[in-house]
Amino acid sequence: MDYENNNWIWERVYYYPYVFGCFMVTAALLGLSTSFFGGIGVHLPLPCSLSNFGIFHKKKSGKRRVRVYMDGCFDLMHYGHANALRQAKALGDELVVGLVSDEEILANKGPPVLSMEERLALVSGLKWVDEVITEAPYAITEEFLNRLFHEYKIDYVIHGDDPCLLPDGTDAYAAAKRAGRYKQIKRTEGVSSTDIVGRIMTSLRDPKVCEDHNGTDEKPQAENRSKSSHISQFLPTSRRIVQFSDGKAPGPNARVVYIDGAFDLFHAGHVEILKRARELGDFLLIGIHSDKTVSEHRGNRYPIMHLHERSLSVLACRHVDEVIIGAPWQITKDMITTFNISAVVHGTVAEKSLHSESDPYEVPISMGIFHLLQSPKDITTTSVAQRIMANHEAYMKRNAKKTLSEQRYYEEKIYVSGE
Ligand SMILES: *[C@@H]1O[C@H](CO)[C@@H](O)[C@H](O)[C@H]1NC(C)=O
Ligand SMILES: *[C@@H]1O[C@H](CO)[C@@H](O)[C@H](O)[C@H]1NC(C)=O
Ligand SMILES: *[C@@H]1O[C@H](CO)[C@@H](O)[C@H](O)[C@H]1NC(C)=O
Repeated sequence: MDYENNNWIWERVYYYPYVFGCFMVTAALLGLSTSFFGGIGVHLPLPCSLSNFGIFHKKKSGKRRVRVYMDGCFDLMHYGHANALRQAKALGDELVVGLVSDEEILANKGPPVLSMEERLALVSGLKWVDEVITEAPYAITEEFLNRLFHEYKIDYVIHGDDPCLLPDGTDAYAAAKRAGRYKQIKRTEGVSSTDIVGRIMTSLRDPKVCEDHNGTDEKPQAENRSKSSHISQFLPTSRRIVQFSDGKAPGPNARVVYIDGAFDLFHAGHVEILKRARELGDFLLIGIHSDKTVSEHRGNRYPIMHLHERSLSVLACRHVDEVIIGAPWQITKDMITTFNISAVVHGTVAEKSLHSESDPYEVPISMGIFHLLQSPKDITTTSVAQRIMANHEAYMKRNAKKTLSEQRYYEEKIYVSGE
């Protein structure tokens, strides 16, 4: 129950980055453990960030740990990004992620959907990420590579198997390759931000389908759209789920906390509420509602991401211990006994259900184990989707270009062995 303790750090990392950057140096001098920061070092482009490394790459063992670097915009983050970072982490001991700034994204791709603050929350929330640098350039430069090697003590730069060219047509990673400090990972099939934007556009674009709809009279149309548009190419395999899982059961006398939801378009608000929920106990169990349950309660336009995709996004979060893939809407006494749940929590910011006949939390409320958690952020799946809708034009243009290159990728793709 110590979640009050260091919560302010997390508030501050977003709103007062300067303070946080300096604070970390102080912590380093005081010899505080890195777990004080939830295990994450965040490096901000600040004058005081010059030497805030030190403690992170010299662990007790004395043997220097291999530091790998991977960058990206991580706008509209999905489990494909998470999987890339998982693979990157497997190539070293410590994973440093370079996050491209809002300004650089705007200049190179158009307006980002998620702000730096939100992208930082999402990336830092991934269980494979050890440090984040918030000043990565959009296209990696030789100068930045040198800084990575010398200032940030990076051993290897990691990139996916899609070619990455600089504006002059040269390979962005040529210098790293020459130095023998480049490693490649296989891209994750079946999902891309472009594809997700497409799904949001098709399911939310129709002006007839408005927010306060019952969700009952639009069925035929909704059924058609799900067939005609962006069908996910993602094939969930058992191995992928295992790769994302910790596979740990609750320890003896562990206090199991349960939280359920759709976790659609996994966003910074989800990360924050999961962090708070986890701090209420020793083991965080997440119930992820099935696609059918989500549609029934939120309308046919939802979910945007299907059950297995949503499960992977949740599993990738560092605060999560286990998920129930397709949890029931109503929490039963039997469920509470089966999983030895001692607390059921729910955030104050949540999507409204279309039906209000019965309270899904009736049982935990009657048992006195239900807690309402103050949601730290006012973000919902709908609000994220609406931001994308608002930038409609820009995204359509971006999409058209990307769709072509995606098509080419799928036409030319070959089997590459690897994770
Ligand atoms: C919702 O459904 C009820 C009947 O089930 C209907 O009377 C009502 O007008 C509907 N509301 C909207 C906003 O469609
Ligand atoms: C659904 O899509 C089919 C083509 O796939 C079309 O013929 C049909 O008219 C559509 N139905 C509705 C209700 O839009
Ligand atoms: C069930 O959870 C409680 C904590 O709420 C714990 O004390 C107890 O040991 C757990 N039971 C088992 C069998 O682990």
